[in-house]
Amino acid sequence: MKIESARLIASAGSLEDCPASGQAEFAFIGRSNVGKSSLINLLTETRELAHTSGKPGKTQRINLYRINDAWTLVDLPGYGYAKLSRERQDEFNQTVSRFLTERANLKQVFLLMDSQIELLDTDLAFAHWLQECGVPFSLILTKIDRGSKGRLETFRRELDEALAELGLKPTTIHACSAKTKAGRGSLLQWIAGQLPTKPKKKGGAPKLNLGWMKRP
Ligand code: GTP
Ligand code: MG
Repeated sequence: MKIESARLIASAGSLEDCPASGQAEFAFIGRSNVGKSSLINLLTETRELAHTSGKPGKTQRINLYRINDAWTLVDLPGYGYAKLSRERQDEFNQTVSRFLTERANLKQVFLLMDSQIELLDTDLAFAHWLQECGVPFSLILTKIDRGSKGRLETFRRELDEALAELGLKPTTIHACSAKTKAGRGSLLQWIAGQLPTKPKKKGGAPKLNLGWMKRP
């Protein structure tokens, strides 16, 4: 899929403040600093559409990006940012969980996991919660440029074991690097497969007329 346009349409503090898009939406969630905003920039081939930072806690609002005037990417605040007060963390969790469970056009949630650190129980607990809520989710392993091939294979093996043990069933599992662009094409292709197909004829589908067929 070619990205022809990408623009921020809203930066909202709550679900109520998010404008209805009427189009398919795909949201990125994960621990602070896992690379959610970097992945938005990777997919849209922009440098600063989404703001990134080496320090966790950068994204603090629900940011909606309209892509090709046809679908929407959603960048969410990360969880587990220890420097935030307990109260503020609870507030974030409440905002994020309401968006993920109540947003009407949310097609898929991508839960990001950092492939360069150990598999985190908090990430597995988040996946478990999504599944319990009946929210369709996929996993994306991030920062795959950083370690060796062996490191990624080990992470993937441990992840597969944990998913089986916990009975977790993500729709798909992707692996990406915002640095080398690895995984960009296949992730976009997967998203394209989730979008409603456009009518093939220019000017829309032919008018439906059921009266023309006369069989002998
Ligand atoms: P919050 O907004 O705090 O929740 O973080 P985030 O998940 O949006 O992370 P962000 O995209 O801001 O990236 C965090 C840090 O990880 C930045 O320093 C990025 O440059 C770095 N980073 C993100 N993706 C990659 C990647 O694929 N490879 C490498 N090497 N670094 C990455
Ligand atoms: Mg961010």
